[in-house]
Amino acid sequence: MRFKNKVVLITGAAGKIGTAIAHLLAAEGALLALVDVKLDAVKKFSTELKIDDERFIILKADVTKESDVKAYVVATIEKFGRIDCFFNNADIDGKKASLTDYPVEMFEAVMNVNVKGTFLGLKYVMIEMKKAGKGSIVNTVSIEGLLGGHCMVAYNTSKHAVIGLTKVAANEAAEFGIRVNVLAQGKVLPNGNNAEEPSKQKDDENEASEIRIPLRRTATPNEIAKVALFLLSDDASYVTNSIYTVDGGITVF
Ligand SMILES: NC(=O)c1ccc[n+]([C@@H]2O[C@H](COP(=O)([O-])OP(=O)(O)OC[C@H]3O[C@@H](n4cnc5c(N)ncnc54)[C@H](O)[C@@H]3O)[C@@H](O)[C@H]2O)c1
Repeated sequence: MRFKNKVVLITGAAGKIGTAIAHLLAAEGALLALVDVKLDAVKKFSTELKIDDERFIILKADVTKESDVKAYVVATIEKFGRIDCFFNNADIDGKKASLTDYPVEMFEAVMNVNVKGTFLGLKYVMIEMKKAGKGSIVNTVSIEGLLGGHCMVAYNTSKHAVIGLTKVAANEAAEFGIRVNVLAQGKVLPNGNNAEEPSKQKDDENEASEIRIPLRRTATPNEIAKVALFLLSDDASYVTNSIYTVDGGITVF
């Protein structure tokens, strides 16, 4: 119960990793603010959290809009009085196309969600954490934030930028007792029937990528979420400004 009565705000809460982390945090006693642009999807999975209604709040927000970000922070403070931990995770992938073919409007859309959305979350959550004199933040990227992947120029660029944002935030936040880290995960497939097992849904692309992963398989959302919980928790009290790869070893090459 590392998170007993700790207030944890999660953006992208309806996604694969957001859902997994919400379940693990609920089981460890957290109070949850679940933010996503897809309200119905959050409502649907929140019924499976097995916690009392007063222990979580569901907030619809588009993380690219400053007013929405301010509103999700205000609503969380109004409900729970503080924000102890922040999982800054909403993102979009964009499309696959070579750099020379990449649509400019798609580039802007990806940068808006992944970079501006992450920045706005940091800005307004850190204001509250500074007042409290403590806090822990985890941004999410991907190993693509460390690499020059193929045909994903907007996604890769945005993830490199979030690593930069993490370093600046970690540097500025440290004197206020706030830690900021970033999770760089490899490929994740949905949980299987059992949350500890990878999904059996595999296509040719997944089979091919698994051959290149030293651990010879993709991750489950729970395997990513468990590392996020470590970074958010006091177990990581001396960890800040770190880039945590959770990738089955793929970045060894
Ligand atoms: N799934 C993978 O294989 C994988 C691999 C590496 C890194 N990651 C990273 O992990 C993080 C989470 O990934 P995921 O697999 O859970 O993604 P996902 O697509 O399942 O979930 C992303 C969530 O963000 C929400 N979102 C998108 N735009 C938004 C906006 N403007 N405002 C508010 N919410 C918005 C979506 O509605 C969705 O619920 C991302 O940063 C992603 O880049 C994922």
